[in-house]
Amino acid sequence: MNQNEAIARIKELTTVLNRHNHLYYVESNPEISDYDFDMLLKKLQALEMQFPDFVNDHSPTKRVGGDITKKFETVVHKYPMLSLSNTYSKEEIEDWDARVKKMVGDDLEYVCELKYDGVAIGIQYVDGKLFRAVTRGDGAQGEDVTNNVKTIRTIPLVLHGDYPSDFEIRGEIFFPLKNFTKLNEQRLEAGEPEFANPRNTASGTLKMQNSKIVSDRGLDCFLYGVYGTGNLDLGHIETVAKVADWGFKIPSEQDRYIAKTNSIDGVMDFINHWDENRDALPFEIDGIVIKVNQYHQQEELGYTAKSPRWAISYKFKTERVETRLESVIYQVGRTGAITPVANLTPVQLGGTTVKRASLHNADQIEKLDLHFNDAVYVEKGGEIIPKIVGVNTACRTVDAKRVGFIDFCPECSSELVRESGGANHYCLNETECLPQMKGKVEHFIGRKSMNIDGLGSETVDVLFKAGLINNVADLYELNFEQVVEMERTADKSANKLIDGVKASKGMPFHKVLFGLGIRFVGETVAKKLAKSLNSMSAISVATFDELIAVDEIGDKIAMSIQAYFSNEENCLIVDRLTAFGLNMEVEEKEQASAVLKGKSFVVSGVFNAFSRPELKEMIELNGGKNVSSISSKTDYLLAGDKMGPAKLKKATDLDVTILSEDAFIAILKNNEHVN
Ligand code: IVH
Repeated sequence: MNQNEAIARIKELTTVLNRHNHLYYVESNPEISDYDFDMLLKKLQALEMQFPDFVNDHSPTKRVGGDITKKFETVVHKYPMLSLSNTYSKEEIEDWDARVKKMVGDDLEYVCELKYDGVAIGIQYVDGKLFRAVTRGDGAQGEDVTNNVKTIRTIPLVLHGDYPSDFEIRGEIFFPLKNFTKLNEQRLEAGEPEFANPRNTASGTLKMQNSKIVSDRGLDCFLYGVYGTGNLDLGHIETVAKVADWGFKIPSEQDRYIAKTNSIDGVMDFINHWDENRDALPFEIDGIVIKVNQYHQQEELGYTAKSPRWAISYKFKTERVETRLESVIYQVGRTGAITPVANLTPVQLGGTTVKRASLHNADQIEKLDLHFNDAVYVEKGGEIIPKIVGVNTACRTVDAKRVGFIDFCPECSSELVRESGGANHYCLNETECLPQMKGKVEHFIGRKSMNIDGLGSETVDVLFKAGLINNVADLYELNFEQVVEMERTADKSANKLIDGVKASKGMPFHKVLFGLGIRFVGETVAKKLAKSLNSMSAISVATFDELIAVDEIGDKIAMSIQAYFSNEENCLIVDRLTAFGLNMEVEEKEQASAVLKGKSFVVSGVFNAFSRPELKEMIELNGGKNVSSISSKTDYLLAGDKMGPAKLKKATDLDVTILSEDAFIAILKNNEHVN
């Protein structure tokens, strides 16, 4: 391909991919499968690599991230980013309504919106292209986080339609709860402490230097303001509707994410609805924002020093109780991460008795300026674990001692090390510190690792107590006589345990690798390593460069893998596991049958007998192909529970055969030929 052809192809692919991205993320109405999208993206990536001079700043490849921002430049906001005045009672809303009406008269409309609990962002578009995205900062100036914001799929890189040549969109970047939970699951699997809440994590993510990580985490954005369109005749809600035509995802009126009303009763209705239903939202909100709709009335009302008079927020009350901090204990996790936990005088909160609250890390303790015996405020937010949100300092005695962080491991007395640049402390004595030793075995036997039947954390405790095991390799030397002699172990359980351990030798290599519990090596990373390097021996001797050449493996993971294999005791465990016959390399998958040959499947919903990944694997092993979205080319929709009605309708409209899990299993069992 010559240069001119390449330029034309890059341009064409950019337009096509941006369109499909919009259809998928903004309109939730994809026309092509994820696979086809990825193939087009790969083509564009390859061309961009070949012709780097022609990569444009608005290429859809920017969504995948990879650009590194060494230092976030400070940018002065063209329009200051103010805050809203908060109210906590309906009376205050009524007072505000009266003040507004006194200034602009009775003829007005209000727009009610959700108050998204995330991080404010201002995004400037010049000539229809995303020019710059800046955080709120101190309101007058913020930080340029453009590279990271470009990875958020619902924010258009290039606009279409009749947009102004230079304007700014304001919105809130937030962590969808599903993605936040997934991130925490991955962190737990990789032996890292969980993040405390979606808002702070969204904020931290937005300031990461590597935009690839931002892309993977799956942030989202709702817009709530448009500046510089020059059209004062319209109202706010009409402008928001208009920007949808330019390519933005806007809050839906149908879902009641936004509503217009001309009465204060309508406002109260909206507030009551979300006060009752906010737990069902797929993201966190901390209140409702009420805005005067017409821009000319907004102008008339103007601003106080800090906030607009034309808007106000109603903050939901979170149930908060006061109790006493009795002590702080420090828990040691599987990877040696230390989590401080507050023991509280038991107190009733939201129908349960709260006795403990996680304090997360040293920074959190410092931020709260916590002292022993403090009267603390405890809240149960969106998270299940209650948290200490503040201290009633009026109740503190003068001689109260500040809560500090510990210097030595509470379990093995090794000196703790604070991770560089982070807030977590670690005990590095991984082979002798009991909770770490036990944690490693618990991780190894877990459902996602070796899935050993007949062995749970209580039995692990007993095995350690009896001195029968010290590490995962010892499990494979256990015999029936030893196990049956342990307290409370009957013949049947002893047999089950021995059989379970034996059966685990059939587990695939990537599960063994994941089971070792190497820090930062979660399930996905283990699969990627297994796929690229094939065997434990290759991984154990891989150079740093070989490791980071593997898809999704960065410096941190590579260093952790090298550290693991440079420890002799770890190598000894791996050698013993190899000798016991565990799978230490990738097995060529045998094709189970060709029953599904040439057939494409979309798997959607929640299933009973198998997980979604298991079903997808079964499809491939029997010759079928998985695609992610339904099109006229899809043969089957394998439908589980809780599947969206839109998908079902699409399948019916396109004449795609819908299979239940049972019907699918029956096909494989009977080896029926699929027509
Ligand atoms: S309008 C002049 N609308 O709340 C300020 N703000 O204290 C206009 N926020 O920093 C803001 N959801 O980040 C507005 N629907 C919404 C919002 C919203 C969340 C945040 C925003 C701002 C803070 C105001």
